[in-house]
Amino acid sequence: MEESLDSYVDKGLVKTYLFTAVIWLCIATTVGFLLSVKFWWPAFLSNIPYLAFPRLQMVHVNGVAFAWLFTAFFGVSYYYVPRLTRQKLFWVKGAWLLYFLWNFIVVAAVIEFLLGNNKGLPYAEIPIWINYIVVVAVVIYAINIFGTIFTRQENQLYVSLWYLMAAIVWSALNYIIGNWIPYYWATGNEGAMLNGFYFHNVVGMMVTPLGLAIAYYVLPIGTDRPIYSHKLSLIGFFALAFIYPFTGAHHYIYSPIPVWVQTIAIVTSVLLIIPVWVVITNFFGTMKGKWTKLTESIPVKFVILGSVFYLLTCFQGPMQSLRSMQKIIHFTDWVVGHAHMALYGAFSLFIFAAIYLMWPIISGKEMDKKLGNWHFWLGFVGFSIMAMVLWAAGLIQGILWIAQVPFLNTVWDIQPYWVIRTVAGAMMVLSFFVLLYNMWKTNKEAASMD
Ligand code: HEM
Repeated sequence: MEESLDSYVDKGLVKTYLFTAVIWLCIATTVGFLLSVKFWWPAFLSNIPYLAFPRLQMVHVNGVAFAWLFTAFFGVSYYYVPRLTRQKLFWVKGAWLLYFLWNFIVVAAVIEFLLGNNKGLPYAEIPIWINYIVVVAVVIYAINIFGTIFTRQENQLYVSLWYLMAAIVWSALNYIIGNWIPYYWATGNEGAMLNGFYFHNVVGMMVTPLGLAIAYYVLPIGTDRPIYSHKLSLIGFFALAFIYPFTGAHHYIYSPIPVWVQTIAIVTSVLLIIPVWVVITNFFGTMKGKWTKLTESIPVKFVILGSVFYLLTCFQGPMQSLRSMQKIIHFTDWVVGHAHMALYGAFSLFIFAAIYLMWPIISGKEMDKKLGNWHFWLGFVGFSIMAMVLWAAGLIQGILWIAQVPFLNTVWDIQPYWVIRTVAGAMMVLSFFVLLYNMWKTNKEAASMD
């Protein structure tokens, strides 16, 4: 049955998107690595203004979010949407147009950041002229996905399609709210609140549904078993839709925004445990009796580890939104550790799972399993070390600041942790290059077999 669905997929298109996404991943995280060196060696690259810390920071963060995650989300969806709908893509030329437009957006944003041009809004730094092109890109994508789904031959709408369609609508709304309103009309506190709403929803209403759509697709195929409960998947979907949008202000606890806004953000952040628990019950339920797959199948390995990190992220999130915890961790490295656990630990791993599932089918050859395991373990060990040192550093910073230790002294105290973060980050970057090499090698060997 899997084989017969192949004919609906434009393999060249998916291959190009996925390979490009992984190239962006390698570039954006190499920049993250350079950035991490600047923490313990401030003179590093300091005489080149284009490579100043804030500029590289924007390249890294926007690079992993928009160049890596979103290029990959587009590519993976061009694989699973035709299969789940039993319908070829509605507008293949549109998908290619989006490819060139998206890469133009990424290159233009990187140049603008290196030149020091940005909007000064976290996660919405991209200059406004580029935002207009992003809107065109999202419209092209929406026409393609909705067009394919509306003309589908398969009656049932699998949960991945629910998440994908919702993500497109939420992304459009959130992007407009986050990029235009705080820039033109709402400055000061209101602008900050809207910005918090926006950037937390980049994760919650854009990346989360797109990532879960992938996990829900990969797991049943990887384990050769239907999803444990469709009812649970729908409960998880609606719980996310109704709870997530109100959580963003938890980034502004103890700041001069209304206390009731902060309290609503805390309450909804705690309630987020519900959709997460539902998703995890569904994933682990699907694994029942199939746990041996964890050692045999690389996609299953990635999707299950991603689910564990998803659970940990979404347990840590509610906990750290509480005022008692915020008192210590606000503005510290703890939050950076948390951000990496969500965007690398959960959602990047779901994409890796999809790549290992799809690449053999679209290239026509199995991937090298040994290299796959190197990718998995280097990334896992590297990330685990990085997360631990960031959380430890964050707690130390918070406690020293409360004790009113002079700021510069606290910087010295944290230095060893930052050095370890660089070493751990290097392991992660290496793991991404291993993936890139594995994809290139598989493709080359497949071509030589023809
Ligand atoms: C897929 C992999 C990665 C993702 C998704 C990712 C994501 C992010 C995000 C979202 C932030 C912003 C954090 C915040 O503002 O709280 C960030 C910052 C940062 N990341 Fe990464 N990152 C990845 C890999 C790496 C690697 C391999 C390194 C290497 C050490 C690294 C180093 C940094 C540094 C130094 C910062 C700046 C922290 C600061 O401003 O205090 N990242 N990353």
